[in-house]
Amino acid sequence: MKKLMAANWKMFKTWDEACATARELIEFVADNLPEDREVLVFPPFTAVKGVAEIFKAAEGFSAGGQDYYIKEEGAFTGEISPAMLRDAGAVYGLTGHSERRHVLGEQDAFVGEKTSFGLACGLKVVLCIGETIDERRGNKVEEVLERQIRIGLKDVSAEVAPEDLSVAYEPVWAIGTGEVAGPEEIAEAHAFVRKILISIFGDKANEMRLLYGGSVKPDNCAEIIALDNVDGVLVGGASLQGESFSKIVLAR
Ligand code: G3P
Repeated sequence: MKKLMAANWKMFKTWDEACATARELIEFVADNLPEDREVLVFPPFTAVKGVAEIFKAAEGFSAGGQDYYIKEEGAFTGEISPAMLRDAGAVYGLTGHSERRHVLGEQDAFVGEKTSFGLACGLKVVLCIGETIDERRGNKVEEVLERQIRIGLKDVSAEVAPEDLSVAYEPVWAIGTGEVAGPEEIAEAHAFVRKILISIFGDKANEMRLLYGGSVKPDNCAEIIALDNVDGVLVGGASLQGESFSKIVLAR
């Protein structure tokens, strides 16, 4: 199972900036990307095609969509379908990012519809989950993670290929704050997520990739990626610069 080293460029980067950073990643990483690593970038929608085209030049690099709607096509102004993302060269789709949940008000059930629909349309999907600081202080971490997983994966086929479904644990209090979760916190949360996934999908859940996200930097990635049940990272701020994200991708 290749470790999935993912970048979420959120609402940063014009087309030119995104393509320039994608080229930098190829330059810094392509010739020495370890066999056990895969690079995934979620650029803004406007740059998915540009980044996907650039990534064609190298093995082990994919682009993804940061979100998508639950219909193939139709009168849904402003929305993007999984088919449009795939047409632009995207291989992955992201669902349930905490900014969509807590800033844009996406509910668990909608995240669940997006997750199952994206998989049914042929996208590999990364489902994001994570507790707020109040939920952590209130000892509700497992309750929140279990709810987000069970509702988020409610309609996902039991036949799903394990390499097509990943879960990113991103404690909301660690996103963009520089307050990376400690190794014990990460290990505990990931072990719990793995247990819940096994209860849903059986042993094949051991092949599903669990990513950690939340203030991952070049100087903390090696420790994080070495933890049990950590099969990759999902990086925001530190992925915006090609050199910095390359160090994260190659961290050992
Ligand atoms: O999706 C990844 C992102 O939310 C993490 O952001 O800036 O804490 O790495 P950052």
